[in-house]
This record gives sequence, structure tokens and C-alpha cells, in this order.
Amino acid sequence: MAMQAGQDIFGCRGIGISFGGRAILKDVSLSVSSGEVLGLVGPNGAGKTSLFEILCGRYVADQGSVQLRGEDITGLAVHDRARRGLARTYQSPVVPASLTIAETFRAARFAYKPYRTRMDAEWACHLANFRKPWDRVAGSLDTFDRRKLLLACLLMRDPAVLLLDEPASGLINSEIDELDLIIRRLVDEYHVAAILIEHRLELLSAIADRAVVLDMGEVIATGTPRAVFEDPRVLEAYFEEPHHG
Ligand SMILES: Nc1ncnc2c1ncn2[C@@H]1O[C@H](COP(=O)(O)OP(=O)(O)O)[C@@H](O)[C@H]1O
Ligand SMILES: [Mg+2]
Repeated sequence: MAMQAGQDIFGCRGIGISFGGRAILKDVSLSVSSGEVLGLVGPNGAGKTSLFEILCGRYVADQGSVQLRGEDITGLAVHDRARRGLARTYQSPVVPASLTIAETFRAARFAYKPYRTRMDAEWACHLANFRKPWDRVAGSLDTFDRRKLLLACLLMRDPAVLLLDEPASGLINSEIDELDLIIRRLVDEYHVAAILIEHRLELLSAIADRAVVLDMGEVIATGTPRAVFEDPRVLEAYFEEPHHG
């Protein structure tokens, strides 16, 4: 992970997408630098996961573009983005139910070229704080260890950009603290650029350098967590009663 800190490495401009005539994302732009955690917040249904789908190449946007290291990658397939250093996790940590951890790493190492070594996988375990014996069945792991296993499978390929979709969901507080340390180390020591989805504002303040708030598919605030969480539009999006009268 040889990125320099502080450069804008990844982002999107003017992203729009509709499903069945309903606009899910409207003119969404954001960017993240190496060595930065960008928090992506917003109420359930705001469009956060849909944006990740577009950023990683699983959904094709109707409008807008995605950039990685100054290159327009809007037309690239998921695996071509992954080869260029874009990694992504999902809200629910789905691991191969019947494979052992060793077999899971083997599959990840040889999933695509360049193949990774066993040492790469061991180093990735270290980075992800994943300490379970490799003869265990992946399906027997708890939520946090599943997340760590899946994170290690990504880290063995030295990603420059990590997209993490609600990595704290289903975790208890002590696990969330540990998760924050893991992410912080990747970002501070290895200059990974991270975009982290979390719908709980208070959790995001602890980890994010900057935050982008999405509401009903639109960016309604960008800035430091403290500033955006005091923004009246953000408070309204979060705390306004949905039904009046
Ligand atoms: N493939 C899809 N087809 C139709 N609607 C979708 C699809 N993906 C997402 N949506 C809709 O987009 C909206 C935003 O969803 P999502 O991106 O999952 O929000 P969030 O992650 O912020 O909770 C929801 O109303 C959801 O039903
Ligand atoms: Mg989501």
C-alpha cells in the first residue's frame, strides 16, 4: 500500500439513478483522499448502498462518472475496478458456509490474478485483527469474525480504496471500538482511502474525518462530522416526525 497521503484518489460526480421511474440518487458527488475516512450517513433508504453499488460497478448509473486516481472508471466492470485497487464490503457478512478459513483464503488468493501468497493472507489477518485458527469452518464464525475474515480477503490484495457498508451493524460496543482501531490503522499507517457507511451519527463522529449526508438520494451536507451533525437540514432529515397531524 504505497499511496501517498492527502491526494484525492477516488470519487464520483453527478451520479443519478432511477428504478421504475423513481429517482434513487440525484446529482451525487463526493471524493476521498488517501489516508482519509469519509463517512457516508443518512437515514435508512437514503440511497447509501445504491451509491456503493454504482461506485463498485454492480449498478450502472443513469448519469455521472466515477474516478479512480484521475482515471474515469465509469465504464469498467466490477473486477476491473477491483484490480485497480477498489475493494468493497457488504452490509451482511456472507462467508462460504462449509469452507474452512484456510479454504476461504485459498479461494480468495486464487480468485483472480495476480494470485496472492499464503504470507499475503497471513499479513492480511494481522491487519484485520483476525485471529481464529484456520481449520475452523467459516460458517461457524460470529458476525465480527466474519467481517474480519472478509476484510482480510480484501486486504491481501493491498486495496487503495475501501468501501465499507455498515461494518458496525450487529456488533457490540467493544467490537465497534476494535473495528475503529482496525480501520484507523489501515488509513493512518497504510494510507488507504475509506468510505464508510453508518446510519448512526454518533458512531461516525468517532471514526470519520469528514462526512457526507445523503437524504432521499441527495447530498444535503458535507463537512466535519461535528459541523454536519449540527446542520439543521441534517437534524431535520434524522429527527423530523415522518407524519404530521
Ligand atoms: N435494484 C433496485 N431496484 C429497485 N429499487 C432499489 C434497488 N436498489 C435500491 N433500491 C431502492 O433505493 C432506495 C435506497 O436504498 P438503499 O440504497 O439500500 O438505501 P440505504 O443503503 O441508504 O438504506 C430504497 O428505496 C430501495 O428500495
Ligand atoms: Mg444500506
